[in-house]
Amino acid sequence: MKKKLNKVLAEFKNEVEQLESPAVAESLRIKYLGRKNGILTKLTSEIKTLPVSKRRGIGTSVKQIREEITATINEKSQPKQTTKTQELDITTPGKKIAVGSLHPITTVIEDVKEIFRYLGFTWTDGPEVESDLYNFQKLNMPPGHPARDVQQTYYIDDDTLLRTHTSNMQVRYLEKHKAPIRVLFPGRCYRRDMPDATHLPSFYQIEGLLVDSKSSMTDLLGTLDFFVKNFFGEKTKTRIYGHHFPYTEPSIEIEVYHQKKGWIEILGAGMVHPNVLRNGGIDPNKFRGWAFGMGPDRLVMLKYGINDIRILYNNDLRFLNQF
Ligand code: DAH
Repeated sequence: MKKKLNKVLAEFKNEVEQLESPAVAESLRIKYLGRKNGILTKLTSEIKTLPVSKRRGIGTSVKQIREEITATINEKSQPKQTTKTQELDITTPGKKIAVGSLHPITTVIEDVKEIFRYLGFTWTDGPEVESDLYNFQKLNMPPGHPARDVQQTYYIDDDTLLRTHTSNMQVRYLEKHKAPIRVLFPGRCYRRDMPDATHLPSFYQIEGLLVDSKSSMTDLLGTLDFFVKNFFGEKTKTRIYGHHFPYTEPSIEIEVYHQKKGWIEILGAGMVHPNVLRNGGIDPNKFRGWAFGMGPDRLVMLKYGINDIRILYNNDLRFLNQF
């Protein structure tokens, strides 16, 4: 009998060793201690069949084994508690995760895209390090052209420079796409400008280009009017006047009224010069185009009433957190 009892205990220990979950511990309780068919229960009931001489001490052994099995099962059926989980108090307030927000210039670029998307425009990026060819020459500005003076820039070598405007993308795009075309080129530009409230040596532009068989100056004006009203609101005061760009003919500029600073120029535009179309492989007798280049930095100033453009690039969180 003693032997049998020891064997039961050994078997139990072996099984407990391989236990995988608290639920399985419960099934062991039934297997060994179950009221009817529990292995130990059955053995206990056999005691009374033993001759009295052999019963000595058996009762105590059974009791000990039962206690050991019970204690082990109780312990194993508790979910595992590691020191770590004991330390975790789920009622303490969590640490605040700092969530960033979009920079106002990014937001404005996205807003502009959205308005033009509505009019059927897509958009694409272009190189900021550009050849003299695409930045100037293909846009009717050969070396020495006076219009280059207002767009001085940083040269990597004699023919490579940091683009002065997103207009560099016009001929690049025309070369690879067939008319009709409606596209925006947002991106960063560079000029040798002294920083002041409305100028910085690095700034953003969004170029727009449309080429179609029947495009006209009236379409351009209508489109820009639609844009300004959608972006700033119906009552915004704008003014348009004639200008000169070598790559548009005729050319215009648009200014928007700023409460504190008066009129601020937000874009240059015009009908794409036939030479530019030709440089891009488009026949100017079949197609006409218009284009514009606007400054999202200026749009941010006007929209949010900011006086100084430099604050947009200082990365001061006291300013940026307001957006
Ligand atoms: N590239 C001009 C600038 O940087 C802006 C501009 C004027 C872009 C006329 C155009 C345009 O596409 O047609 O000042």
